[in-house]
Amino acid sequence: MQAAAEGTSDARILYRQQCAACHGDQGTGDGPMAWWLPAPPRDFQHEPFRYISSASGAGVDLADLERTIRRGILGAGMPASPHLGDTEVQELAELVLAWRRAGMAQDLLDYAAEEDEEMSPEEALEIADSLLESGGSLPVPPRPEDYVFDLDRAAALFAANCAACHGADGRGDGVRGMTDEQGRPIQARDFVATGIWGGRTDRDLYWRIRLGMPGTPMPATEIADEDVWQLVDYVRVLAQG
Ligand code: HEC
Ligand code: HEC
Repeated sequence: MQAAAEGTSDARILYRQQCAACHGDQGTGDGPMAWWLPAPPRDFQHEPFRYISSASGAGVDLADLERTIRRGILGAGMPASPHLGDTEVQELAELVLAWRRAGMAQDLLDYAAEEDEEMSPEEALEIADSLLESGGSLPVPPRPEDYVFDLDRAAALFAANCAACHGADGRGDGVRGMTDEQGRPIQARDFVATGIWGGRTDRDLYWRIRLGMPGTPMPATEIADEDVWQLVDYVRVLAQG
């Protein structure tokens, strides 16, 4: 399925100059620099996005992509782009999303062919569009008025809910042998050595812990908001060493 035709020509030029070395000419994560990075660059066509605020499973919020493009993912070697204007960032995000849409439609067609089911490219795109519908960002509630960070309580919550993967001290040395959706080895984040990659503001961390990271073992959680805030603050403490 051709996605290269999508996106404005400005966005495609910018993409080629500033993104393709890692993410590849067609956004499939296989640029020449891909092999030198601490994490594989996202294959926009075939992988879900991880740093999300949308609670709707595969749904993609354009604002999440824009935030990531602006901020970069420094721990993974993806640079920030403070020099880009709002329109440039938006058009890059739209180009990335167009690739996601085309890749998802292609995956649906391949699956249908395997199962011997009839599906036209138009139908595949329609299904992809409905799956990608974001439904908007999950609202981030304020901290309870009487909230105080309680180190002991936070440590106990972390031990009960997170340490199995992230390790008792948050060094990413819990369970071994996990893989991502693509079958590649993946480790829980080592907060102490490599910090927080996806933004450390309240809302970034709230979304990450509440919603998890699609395509990875990092789970969504149903624990009470108060406890999520304890963990948000605890993860920041761990990341400060
Ligand atoms: C030096 C390599 C590099 C460059 C240049 C780069 N990226 Fe990335 N990018 C990465 C890596 C590595 C990841 C995966 C990080 C991870 O899994 O935490 C990533 C992930 C992403 C994601 C996925 C975010 C998510 O929620 O999963 C988007 C979107 C993205 N990059 C867009 C861009 C755009 C647009 C550009 C150009 C302006 C760009 N990147 C330039 C390396 C790069
Ligand atoms: C089943 C294993 C597993 C459990 C349980 C788990 N995590 Fe994770 N977590 C991961 C993995 C794997 C990653 C890294 C994903 C990646 O590299 O893209 C991650 C990433 C994260 C991040 C992203 C940090 C960043 O760089 O932006 C945060 C925050 C986080 N976990 C917090 C928690 C908290 C808090 C808990 C407990 C409520 C928890 N995790 C439970 C596996 C887990």
